[in-house]
Amino acid sequence: MAALRRQAQAVGAIMSETRLETRGLTRHFGALVAVTGIDFKLAAGARHALIGPNGAGKTTFINLLTGVLQPSHGSVLLGGKDITATAQAERVKLGIARTFQINRLFRGLSVLENVYIPVAERMGVAPSMFNPAGKRTDVIEEAMYLLEVLRLGDVAQHRVSELAYGRQRLVELAIAIGLRPGVLLLDEPAAGVPSAESHIILDAIERLPEDIAVLIIEHDMDVVFRFAKRVTVMVSGAIFAEGTPKEIEANPEVRAVYLGQAGARAGDHA
Ligand SMILES: Nc1ncnc2c1ncn2[C@@H]1O[C@H](COP(=O)(O)OP(=O)(O)OP(=O)(O)O)[C@@H](O)[C@H]1O
Ligand SMILES: [Mg+2]
Repeated sequence: MAALRRQAQAVGAIMSETRLETRGLTRHFGALVAVTGIDFKLAAGARHALIGPNGAGKTTFINLLTGVLQPSHGSVLLGGKDITATAQAERVKLGIARTFQINRLFRGLSVLENVYIPVAERMGVAPSMFNPAGKRTDVIEEAMYLLEVLRLGDVAQHRVSELAYGRQRLVELAIAIGLRPGVLLLDEPAAGVPSAESHIILDAIERLPEDIAVLIIEHDMDVVFRFAKRVTVMVSGAIFAEGTPKEIEANPEVRAVYLGQAGARAGDHA
């Protein structure tokens, strides 16, 4: 019993630890202040949603976390270590993976090949996608396993271009998970996906390994309130509110600036 309790406490401690943090994170584009003074913490194993009106600075914030953009001021810390000056590719190696608001896949390659490449890179194997005989079985096995998890096993040999858009977004998710990230940043993962297919993506997100800290940008409030344990609201580049889904839903100011329109927004992005 005592051992079990100690184990539970240890897991609790890991889960409350901060994986990713920003301090005073700010980004200007000329005169426009897209992101300003963001102090943010993403806990290990987090299920955290970032919401807010169009143009609030959500994607810019993610771009600052991944190193696509450099901040004008402020810092980004991963596991307590300052990575503000760390290049994008290096941050991926440190365990920050993402998906994009618009997908970036190798459309002419098969689904399996698209997932093979990042898994091979992570394992330190030179990807040999044009030489089937040179493919490593351990890489293929892991790539296939990821495809099974995301229910893409049946289309492994299909070209990405042959897949419906919803399933293409699942391939992106497989690639991101294939990097075995500690932090996964999802920028509107169901954007552009017909609503009849969006449940596939949401189901997959709900089944992500528990130890990955997930930050999701999402306009559909049903998804946000089902998935997230914590919600941050951004407005005009700054954090407007943060709390549990219940607290955010009950916050009259948030309702006034954003949630009042959320039904329409979910429709916009479906
Ligand atoms: N590369 C850029 N150059 C100039 N302005 C930019 C650039 N990227 C973003 N912006 C501006 O910064 C602001 C924040 O944009 P951002 O894309 O981060 O918003 P968002 O919250 O992701 O919006 P959406 O919900 O529509 O995706 C907007 O006014 C946008 O026009
Ligand atoms: Mg955006």
